Amino acid sequence: FVLPLFIRSGRGVKKNILSMPGHFQMSVVNAVKEVREAKRLGIGSVLLFGVPDSKDELGSEAFNPQGVIQVAVSEIKQRVPETVVITDLCFCEYTSHGHCGAVRKGGSEPNIDNDATLDLIAKTALVQAQAGADIIAPSGMVDGMVRTIRQSLDANGFTDRLILSYAAKYASSFYAPFREAAEGAPQFGDRRTYQMDSANGAEALREVSVDINEGADMVMVKPALSYLDIIYRVKRRFNIPVAAYNVSGEYAMVRAAGAQGWLDADKAALEILLSIKRAGADLIITYHAKDVAKQL
Ligand code: PBG
Repeated sequence: FVLPLFIRSGRGVKKNILSMPGHFQMSVVNAVKEVREAKRLGIGSVLLFGVPDSKDELGSEAFNPQGVIQVAVSEIKQRVPETVVITDLCFCEYTSHGHCGAVRKGGSEPNIDNDATLDLIAKTALVQAQAGADIIAPSGMVDGMVRTIRQSLDANGFTDRLILSYAAKYASSFYAPFREAAEGAPQFGDRRTYQMDSANGAEALREVSVDINEGADMVMVKPALSYLDIIYRVKRRFNIPVAAYNVSGEYAMVRAAGAQGWLDADKAALEILLSIKRAGADLIITYHAKDVAKQL
């Protein structure tokens, strides 16, 4: 299991995420406590998202060496060093427009400037690695992102850091609670110009193949539950570790029904995670991690 955490700047912050009961935006010291608690339950890996205080057109806080994620990574690696720290690398939480990279002006549809975004990705990967991230996980569906990160890391001596690419990431309604959690909702348009069409299975295999050729060490399918066939196909086709992201909306559905007494949320969560495992996932990124680990 990989446990996602939302990190905010400040002190003593532990703010409920209403649509994701049991999850919080936390400042660094509280996040370290959460990492310790996860470790006690047998979860040795976390995926970090930053919620910065200020946003701008380019998402500059993402590549600020003193930015919230960089500070959190170095604290976690110092205080609980055996934790495997994965950093999400995307700009939607950091940009004023809420899109996953630099956006060209004009038009009602977001028009991502792919190559300008690659420069920002190279810088961000480097500061994350310098802070101590073990695995960099680019999630913006920017063409060439894996190769760019590999080059940036290798050129600076970080040949030992891994890349977990969000290779097959679908444009999904199941990300809605995450947008509350990370405060990264698009301010105009949606993400369909750069995330994948749910109807298209073959494209996932092409995306995965491209990312492996660019140097990905692991690939991700996201979301998980409505895409079990994709997990299965990726695992069968490619000899590489496959991660599945059981996303915020998939978590919220189960917890909401559980809160109503309509089903047993812990049992349903275990059953869902088993299906993801059966489909072929080697790693499961899930907000249920702590609750399910307690049952195992
Ligand atoms: C950022 C990102 C998103 C998620 C992970 N990274 C949101 C999005 O693409 O809109 C969603 C995770 C979740 O829903 O749990 N690109």
